[in-house]
Amino acid sequence: DTKTPELLSPTDTPMQILEKMRPFRELMMQYECAMREVSTKFEVLNAEFSVRYNHNPLEAIKTRLKTPVSIAEKLNRNGKPLSVSSIRENLFDVAGVRIICSFPEDIYTLSDMFLRQDDVKLLKRKDYIADPKENGYRSLHLIVEVPIFLTERTMMIPVEVQFRTIAMDFWATLEHKTRYKQNIKDEPFIASELKTCADQIAKLDIRMQEIHRAQGMQRGAQKTARRV
Ligand code: GTP
Ligand code: MG
Repeated sequence: DTKTPELLSPTDTPMQILEKMRPFRELMMQYECAMREVSTKFEVLNAEFSVRYNHNPLEAIKTRLKTPVSIAEKLNRNGKPLSVSSIRENLFDVAGVRIICSFPEDIYTLSDMFLRQDDVKLLKRKDYIADPKENGYRSLHLIVEVPIFLTERTMMIPVEVQFRTIAMDFWATLEHKTRYKQNIKDEPFIASELKTCADQIAKLDIRMQEIHRAQGMQRGAQKTARRV
């Protein structure tokens, strides 16, 4: 494989720095495009759902590109060199798409439809809804590769897709914040409260889904009655 040099050295002149940054900017552009491809795929699914079934399974789509600082931190943490080829080989979450759904069943419906598309290649799937993490974290994670069509070639670029319900996202956001407050994170009360909340949220998600289903069936019955 072709190793690219370490990104920067302290003796670089400003011109050298700019020149050396070009492959990095190109790489980030590729992740950005892959992220948009994935995001568009979900917008398309949601649009058809809305017209065909009068239901929007998708509450929100959030996208984020890892910042250069957190790319460097993660490579460092894993003892990997800081170079363009190292980013390509070692990081699969530079491009991130988060799909927020109303109900748990929407997560599986949408992710199945997405994975059936023939230009989406699954690299890894982790179902933290079926198997929640010890702290209570729930989400479905996919690492996929999608093609991006550039001026002179087509490239397969990895994207991390996380699926959550609104309630799971609410929880994960709060839990994430406590991680950066060392004194709060280590409070046993906080960890156990978060775990309790995560389990309650999982139950509520199912109850809300049942209400939604019942209402759907009732609507279906009314339509049938009108037709008769
Ligand atoms: P990373 O090195 O963080 O990417 O973890 P990983 O390679 O073990 O992958 P995993 O699928 O477990 O986690 C990927 C991403 O999911 C993380 O970067 C977070 O965005 C999210 N995540 C995973 N676990 C938790 C958690 O316990 N709490 C919260 N808030 N987010 C989590
Ligand atoms: Mg990550």
